[in-house]
Amino acid sequence: MTDKNAILFERAQRTTPGGVNSPVRAFRQVGGTPRFIERAEGAHMWDANGGRYIDYINSWGPTIVGHAHPEVVAAVQAACATGLSFGAPTEAEIEMAEEITRLMPSIEEVRLVSSGTEASMSAIRLARGATGRAKIIKFDGCYHGHADSLLVKAGSGLLTFNTPSSAGVPKEITAHTIVLDFNAPDQLERAFETHGAAIACVIVEPVAGNMNLVKPTPEFLSTMRRLCSAHGALLIFDEVMCGFRVALGGAQALYGITPDLTVLGKVIGGGMPLAAFGGRREIMQHLSPIGAVYQAGTLSGNPVAVAAGLATLRIIERPGFYENLGSATARLAQGLEAEARAAGVEFCADSIGGMFGFYFCANRPLRVADVAASDIERFKRFFHLMLARGIYLAPSAYEAGFVSAAHDAACIDETLVAARAAFAQLAH
Ligand SMILES: Cc1ncc(COP(=O)(O)O)c(C=O)c1O
Repeated sequence: MTDKNAILFERAQRTTPGGVNSPVRAFRQVGGTPRFIERAEGAHMWDANGGRYIDYINSWGPTIVGHAHPEVVAAVQAACATGLSFGAPTEAEIEMAEEITRLMPSIEEVRLVSSGTEASMSAIRLARGATGRAKIIKFDGCYHGHADSLLVKAGSGLLTFNTPSSAGVPKEITAHTIVLDFNAPDQLERAFETHGAAIACVIVEPVAGNMNLVKPTPEFLSTMRRLCSAHGALLIFDEVMCGFRVALGGAQALYGITPDLTVLGKVIGGGMPLAAFGGRREIMQHLSPIGAVYQAGTLSGNPVAVAAGLATLRIIERPGFYENLGSATARLAQGLEAEARAAGVEFCADSIGGMFGFYFCANRPLRVADVAASDIERFKRFFHLMLARGIYLAPSAYEAGFVSAAHDAACIDETLVAARAAFAQLAH
């Protein structure tokens, strides 16, 4: 049979670097041919060969209500019919801001943008502008998009200044970025002791999803809240991934920690390019046109994206939505653990809301080094064994997985049957 995915990949590489428009799509970490998707509906996607997959990537998080949900599609179609972009304000943007501020009460004012990268970058500029300080703290393994100052590797020793993790980023640009370990409150204490008066903000994924799924310890989040308040630094929760994913009010509601600023994306656009950052009014008022911190965007608050986002938010607000999503996801994670145990494969899994992680190691990781120490070769084999059985997992051991409301019991059952066979093969 002709492999259309392979033909398309070959063709794509002639005009697009690596054949993809975002690196992880290229399957570099697992090897093999990326699937070129022709269509998706509910929990399933179909590739160029007509292969059907149960999709656990869900566009890396946004399609929480399932692919091509009829209500979201209808909202998008209606918005398209009245114009694609105006570069002028619309009532729907007010509605979106009202929804966000209602669902996340720490956000008094919000600005809409087009990507999570743009939202985090703008939130950091705002934090620096509002505090008049330069330094920022981020955590190793957390991803906040690809703004220059955030592309940093941890230095060799704690609190040494760090080196850019990408070519093209001058070291002067990352000189103000301090990188600490996730779940290490003692490191936060020391960083604030040394640099407290110079720190503009701490930015964190409160539930990390870019080093596989790594949950915070309650002490980690409460220490960062306390230290930021004590030293006049702003706490930024990057909830691009976990916002509206782990709970309706995001990780901040689940853990009871109030950030000063929040970054949102993914689910709020329901699969369209929409992201946002917001927080306390007095901080947000530093933004132009009223304040001195510049920030703008031609397509910010795009009417089609806002329509998709509003339709998605209306669905996730329905009673029982998170209970059902959380129990399907927990059943998947627990089922995977049970299958691995039965096959005698060292493995563990975890979930929170509609997000899950699985790891080829004995204990759930607390930081990126733990994920790096897991059996990545086994992960790669498992990934391909599952893909061959129609289960589409993230093609990297450093990514979380996502379940949507369209993943019914039959989908989870089918996945666990596939996992049983895959673990049995791995055990040999
Ligand atoms: C936590 C987090 N922040 C920011 C981003 C960047 O968002 P985008 O890819 O929309 O630029 C991502 C993307 O995966 C993310 O997971």
